[in-house]
Formats: sequence, C-alpha cells, structure tokens
Amino acid sequence: MIRHLLSASDLTHEDATLILDTADRLAGQSEVAAVKKFPTLRGRTVVNLFYEDSTRTRTSFELAAKRLSADVITFSAKGSSVSKGESLKDTAWTLEAMGADAVVIRHHASGAPHRLAGWIKGSVVNAGDGTHEHPTQALLDAYTMRQRMGRIEDLRVTIVGDIIHSRVARSNVLLLATLGAHVTLVAPPTLLPVGIETWPVEVSYDLDSVLPKSDVVMMLRVQRERMGAAYFPSTREYSRRYGLDRDRVRLLTDDAIVMHPGPMNRGVEIAAEVADSKRSTIVDQVTNGVSVRMALLYLMLGSDQ
Ligand code: CP
Repeated sequence: MIRHLLSASDLTHEDATLILDTADRLAGQSEVAAVKKFPTLRGRTVVNLFYEDSTRTRTSFELAAKRLSADVITFSAKGSSVSKGESLKDTAWTLEAMGADAVVIRHHASGAPHRLAGWIKGSVVNAGDGTHEHPTQALLDAYTMRQRMGRIEDLRVTIVGDIIHSRVARSNVLLLATLGAHVTLVAPPTLLPVGIETWPVEVSYDLDSVLPKSDVVMMLRVQRERMGAAYFPSTREYSRRYGLDRDRVRLLTDDAIVMHPGPMNRGVEIAAEVADSKRSTIVDQVTNGVSVRMALLYLMLGSDQ
C-alpha cells in the first residue's frame, strides 16, 4: 500500500479496490458482528491538521482513527500558534516531535500536503488542499456508487457545477477514470478550468440532455468563498440552468442516483426535496466516509498487525 495519499492519481486500480473491499469488511464487522472498536492502531498516533473549516472530513477521520484505537490529536489552525505566525513546516515538526505516525491535512493552499510529505517521516493524507484534490472524498464516493449500483466500471457519472474550484471533481475524475467509469462534466463555460480538454472526461453545457444518459449525478456546491469575480449572472439564473430540481429529476432513469459531497446550498445547486429523496445518497456518503477512512488508515499504518 502507498505511504502517502496526496492525489487520487496515487492509487492504482488494485490499491483503490483493496481500500473499498477493506472498507466493506470493516463496515460488515461493525454492523453484523457489532464490533465498534478494533485494536489495530493501538499505540499509533494520528494527527488531524486542519487549516480550513470542515464538518464531515474532520469528524470522519477522527472517528475512523478512534475506531481503530489510535491516539488522535485534532488540530485547528484557529486558536493555535499559526495565528502567531508559525509556519506549516514548524507546525509539522512540532507534531512529529510528539510522535505522529500519520498526519491528515486540510489546507487552503493547493500542494500543501505534498510539501508536508517531504518534511515528516509519517504518512500524509490529503483531506482537501485548496482547489486541487480531495482523494478520500473520491474514495467514499466510489464506495457509495459501488454500494448502490453494484459496480463502478462503465457507470455513466455526471458531475455538475463549480468544477473550476472543486477538489472533489478533480479527485473523482482521476479515481473514476482508474476504475473504468465514464465521466461527463456539466457547467457553464466560466466554471470549467483551462485545459479541461486534457482531462479524461466529456464536457457539456446542457444538463437536460445529459441527465437521461446518467447513472450517477453528482451535484457540486457553488464555492462563493473562492470566487473573486462574478462567474454567472445571478444565483437564480445559475439554479435555473444548472440546479437539480424536481422537474429535472424526472429526466433521470428509475435507477439513477443523486450524490453531493456536502456542504450543500439547498435551493441553489440542489432542491431540498431532491437532497432528501430516495435517490439521494448524501447521508450514505457521510456514513461510508468513516469506513473508507478506517480502511485507508488501517492499510497505511496497521495492516502488518
Ligand atoms: N465533503 C467535505 O469535504 O465536507 P467538509 O468540508 O464538511 O469536510
């Protein structure tokens, strides 16, 4: 197994499948055998180093490490010596001096996890870096697709919305290509990155024409906090053309599922009734995040035990 997980492209088909299969086994043990805690990482220390806000990823990694009996330190930049000017490098060395075996990092700067991996001896897991990547989100999304649809290979996955700012989209595109799915990106031209033609995807500007051909529709949040300029005329106009509402859902086949990594802007990219419908996997994605992150930590740190 890889030492660090910095990008979804670090994972071969074999690595990714091993993580998903291991997550399946751990989830099965938790549900069927009612095992709530595994001793695998006893004596190991996992540090969650969060320079950017998070609800799902931070709590999920914390729960995953605790369920494997690791010691967990959760560190938020807010309220730490980062506010006094301490650098990422010095923060990393401080945490390593405390015996971190793995550091899970979320940072506003794309590439921060790569830098960290060059400075410390332990494993580094990218929990979201700027607009670059969020590989464990892609893993839990793939797990959820496989759970609901029975396979990933040849699935037609449509990712809709703010692609240019989305680390979730980047990681999903890379992982889904490795696992043999077909991805279509749908967005206004202003929300597609330069160089999109080199990505292993199709691109469309017309959501209504793509929905009937989709097995999976993944809606993305409009990341206003990363937008310095106006990328579309108005929220209402964006929602009308690229939002998933009740009428648009009727264009989907009976079996198609709707995903969203969260946090959602209900009423903007997704209508509340769609987010809460039977097609929606949003709650499952959160649940599956714990098993997938347990599997990753187990394989990286404890599979020899
Ligand atoms: N999906 C996701 O990364 O959510 P958080 O920002 O709440 O961690």
